[in-house]
Amino acid sequence: MKNSTDDFKKLIAHCKEYGYVFPSSEVYDGLSAVYDYGPYGVELKNNIKEYWWKAMVQMHENIVGLDSAIFMHPLIWKASGHVDAFSDPMIDNKDSKKRYRADVLIEEHLAKIDAKNDKDVEKAKKRFGDSFDEAQFRATNARVLKRQEERDAIHQKFVKALSSEDLGELKTLIEECQIADPEGGSRNWTDVRQFNLMFSTQFGATSSEGGDNSNKVYLRPETAQGIFVNFLNVQKTTRQKIPFGIAQIGKAFRNEIVARQFIFRMREFEQMEMQFFVQPGTEMEWYHYWKEFRMNWHKSLFPAEKLQYHDHDKLAHYANAALDIEFEFPFGFKEIEGIHSRTDFDLGNHQELSGRKMQYFDSDLGESYVPYVVETSIGVDRTFFAVVSHALQEEEVPDAKGNMATRIVMKIPPVLAPVKVAVLPLVKKEVLADKAREIFNRLKWVTQCQYDEKDSIGRRYRRQDAIGTPFCVTVDFETLEDGEVTVRDRDTLEQVRIPIDAIEGHIAGKLDFRTLIKG
Ligand code: GAP
Repeated sequence: MKNSTDDFKKLIAHCKEYGYVFPSSEVYDGLSAVYDYGPYGVELKNNIKEYWWKAMVQMHENIVGLDSAIFMHPLIWKASGHVDAFSDPMIDNKDSKKRYRADVLIEEHLAKIDAKNDKDVEKAKKRFGDSFDEAQFRATNARVLKRQEERDAIHQKFVKALSSEDLGELKTLIEECQIADPEGGSRNWTDVRQFNLMFSTQFGATSSEGGDNSNKVYLRPETAQGIFVNFLNVQKTTRQKIPFGIAQIGKAFRNEIVARQFIFRMREFEQMEMQFFVQPGTEMEWYHYWKEFRMNWHKSLFPAEKLQYHDHDKLAHYANAALDIEFEFPFGFKEIEGIHSRTDFDLGNHQELSGRKMQYFDSDLGESYVPYVVETSIGVDRTFFAVVSHALQEEEVPDAKGNMATRIVMKIPPVLAPVKVAVLPLVKKEVLADKAREIFNRLKWVTQCQYDEKDSIGRRYRRQDAIGTPFCVTVDFETLEDGEVTVRDRDTLEQVRIPIDAIEGHIAGKLDFRTLIKG
């Protein structure tokens, strides 16, 4: 789908209509930024997690898995810095009463300036054709240059304000740039304040009246800390030697200030994280290794032009280097994964606060040290969003009578598709149904299948296209004579006639993770 607000709305509606994603608690008008995954959504989500797990754990001798609890000792979040520093700068519009992230308002303002310059470049490109020199145009065109100078000046102030956590300067920048409320258009802003994103709750039966916080626990805002505090348990039980990694998939919770973009920014979401423990001093080498490795994983799912790196303007409190891998969502390029060099920040702080050693004895060097960590952290939900937004397409294709008709199709990579094979009797007749069920009962051992006999065959094909089913197996009266079925390919629309015994072989190659993972 091309990127536009309309297409974004269509995607959300499609996800709901075809059982991918439902707003949570819908009968009570929903709960902001919380979503439920429907029957097809849960299958796709599980397949995405399986693909990540295979690529990150199964394919690496030196990466192992973990499933740590969501509840953890509250001091973990003190040591990790989340109690003191896991906050976003927020600002309210006094007229619309809407709350925004101050940094996002400024980033969006910068992106608008970039877009204006890109538009001028595109226009000039069309005008001058092959002789067009983009670098020269950007360096000499007065209008573009003026905008670029303004942009650079704002960006410089922005980075300085972020790194010195100068909330007053962020407000001044919003005023200087005349940034208006994106919804109401008003420029009547409050001051910028910090807002901690962690959810907390009470642990155990005794309530803590009178301000006693001893029962307070947090819902984890990242899965990573469960890995850090288990680092020695895992290392000792698996006898891993540095460098090695620990991977985990699990829920995380953040009380996000801005939560308006479907499953992009949720208050309850899932992460797939891997902490790679390395010898201090080698972390930049591994940072670059994982940056490339993870980009290649994304390229196995999406075209290169939909992906880009983005270096962080402001490093998180734990990082000495960090970047995002961004995907072109319907509302532009945004983060899908973060790669962070976290130094010994987390292990060092846990060692200090818990009083327990977090050191590794390196037998090659004959010395002990607190390892450095390079982290890869990707959101399951954002990956899901990227997969469906890239997959959903409207196409003109010939119908049964040869006339051109529009079809809506989810071109999800077959190995990730929620349903792999739909088994369909041509018409609703008992003899065909019996045969089709027999085939379904064989194939269900091999892969995720669906049996469907309701409606005309054309409508059933369209429904399977909309769900994203890569293969439809149709049983007709000839099948009863010659034991052959028609297999329809979702993407090419090619229909081949093959023996029932050949179905598994026909689909197997396309349902193998090796179609995605290289090497
Ligand atoms: N442990 C490091 C960490 O949590 P992050 O960049 O804050 O880093 C990593 O988050 C990834 O988690 C993001 O790239 C994104 O895909 C996902 N993520 C973060 N916040 C999210 C939210 N509110 N909703 C959905 N996904 C989110």
